[in-house]
Amino acid sequence: MPKYPVEPFRIKMVEPIRLISPQARVEAMHTAGYNLFALKAEDVFVDLLTDSGTGAMSQSQWAAIMEGDESYAGARSYYRLAEAMQDIFGFEYFVPTHQGRAAENILSSLLIKPGMSVPSNMHFDTTDANIRARGGRPTNLVMEEGLNPKSQLPFKGNMDLELLRDFIHKVGPQNIPFGTITVTNNAGGGQPVSMENIRQVAEIYHQNGIPFFIDACRYAENAYFIKMREPGYAKKTTQEIAQEMFSLADGAFMSAKKDALVNIGGFLAMRDQQLYQNVCNELILREGFPTYGGLSGRDLDAMAVGLREGLDESYLAYRLGQTAYLAGRLQEYGVPIVEPAGGHAIYVDAGSFLPHIPQAEFPGQALAAALYLQGAIRGVEIGSVMFAHPDPDTGEMVYPHLELVRLAIPRRVYTQAHLDYVADTLGELSQRCNELRGFRITYSPPLLRHFTARFEPL
Ligand code: F0G
Repeated sequence: MPKYPVEPFRIKMVEPIRLISPQARVEAMHTAGYNLFALKAEDVFVDLLTDSGTGAMSQSQWAAIMEGDESYAGARSYYRLAEAMQDIFGFEYFVPTHQGRAAENILSSLLIKPGMSVPSNMHFDTTDANIRARGGRPTNLVMEEGLNPKSQLPFKGNMDLELLRDFIHKVGPQNIPFGTITVTNNAGGGQPVSMENIRQVAEIYHQNGIPFFIDACRYAENAYFIKMREPGYAKKTTQEIAQEMFSLADGAFMSAKKDALVNIGGFLAMRDQQLYQNVCNELILREGFPTYGGLSGRDLDAMAVGLREGLDESYLAYRLGQTAYLAGRLQEYGVPIVEPAGGHAIYVDAGSFLPHIPQAEFPGQALAAALYLQGAIRGVEIGSVMFAHPDPDTGEMVYPHLELVRLAIPRRVYTQAHLDYVADTLGELSQRCNELRGFRITYSPPLLRHFTARFEPL
């Protein structure tokens, strides 16, 4: 039986949850148009929809909140955050934003012109959509093994360097306003990226005069994977590893709702002064003054403390251990998952779990709906509902490589018994997976359709 390091904390405040009856779940799903985003959270027992903004803050963070300085400009809270930013990321400039996608929007609006391409290992949904919203083309160049759920390579989030060189050559560096890489690779199983790969990707971008921005949401988990798996890093602290990672880039954007352990927040950081001035102007127009950027002073303080706590190595050992534990339990039941376990989530391979459901009928959606009906567990589809889109040149539907259901683990929130409940429920479901049927979409918006689409069972 796999085990994980004992939680390096104890629980000081609890939030009750309840398991509603199977019949009530059927009704809730019907009312929600079979979209799990439309469920009432109180009708969910174990909520693994996202690890974003759902973590438990520490006593130090709550204490810091009481110290929040709500001055409009130049608040003490801002300077405390700036100090943490400098210690970890080391960029010359940064602005706080209310979450990651606000930073993505600002960067995209300033740099992307229609028809331009932005390469990454894999863009996550809001990054993909913010690039498309400006007429750009998000391009995913993860290594081939990163799309193979069974491959055991240690850094399956790595970018394919050959593909990246060829791609830049094909579209021309002048048509790439910036390049990026997502650590860890959320759309591809939460798999880490090695320092070596980040270094080489940076080199390729820089040889071509392309600014390099890291999507840093889960940089601390990525740093711990580097420490554990990459030769030469075992003795470095996660903070030193993070500093090295960001020293290779020209900037970063981050949703602080992940590895900064806060319920809301983000930032956009950069080295270029001219870009910073433009960012400030855009920020002032849409988000707020550059020393608060759409957040309150107390949010900035919670983030300053959370950034440091997120790098704590006993926390990270427990955190990644917990994910690996759930992976092990699911494998005992023969549930197909993306291996090895990623950082923040387990990704059930719905394509393999439900081979009788074609991509056009959304196997991931079918599994996510069934998991809710079976045990009031909420995961999220990361497959064709989220990523299938018409090709901008031919209009033909392009389907993603993987049909996944992500079970994201909120930070410091659920216990081993919760994880066992999830594993046992999926185990029960695997007994009757051939009974599950696909879905048809009855409503779909043009961008980010997974949030608000409605479905009908086939
Ligand atoms: N980049 C990555 C890799 C993400 O995972 C997310 C959010 C964002 C950017 C955008 O950040 O939500 O603060 O605007 N991911 C969440 C998730 C929502 O469930 O994985 P945001």
